[in-house]
Amino acid sequence: MLKTIVLIGMMGSGKTSVGKELAKKLNLAFVDIDQEIEKKYQMNIPKIFQTRGEGFFRKAEENMSCKLINGKPCVVSIGGGGFLNKKIRGKIKIHAISIWINTELDKIYKRLNVSKNKRPLLNYKNLKKSIKEIYDKRKPIYKKADYTIQIKSDNKKMIVENIIKKL
Ligand code: S3P
Repeated sequence: MLKTIVLIGMMGSGKTSVGKELAKKLNLAFVDIDQEIEKKYQMNIPKIFQTRGEGFFRKAEENMSCKLINGKPCVVSIGGGGFLNKKIRGKIKIHAISIWINTELDKIYKRLNVSKNKRPLLNYKNLKKSIKEIYDKRKPIYKKADYTIQIKSDNKKMIVENIIKKL
């Protein structure tokens, strides 16, 4: 691969687990932007939102994404809001190939419902509605990705094969 591959999409869509598998298959390094931010600030994402606010997180996300997307080809998983940022999207368009991991909302709901309180943007009291609202708002932007992979199963190997076919 001559270009970095960036996986985009909703929280809980499986970007990180698919990204790791894809990187292994392509013999590339894997980078998770949220994990890099957590390492840098020695705080998990909910704590960053809570103590510094979303604005601070978005700026950190922008800086980290722009830096890493510009580097050596690798597989990148970016937080669900990352692709909404025009500057990040522009960098991805120039330096990388973007893939929207478009996972069924029911699957997303089931996953996020068991890993509660890790995503500060969600309203866990009405999780289904909260996921749907965010998805509907973001869909037109996610659609701008170079490729879309529809996901209905948990079979990571099959998902990775599909991505490789598209590439
Ligand atoms: C966010 C998604 C999260 C994380 C933050 C905000 C979003 O990452 O960056 O909680 O705006 O959708 P994941 O997509 O990896 O859950």
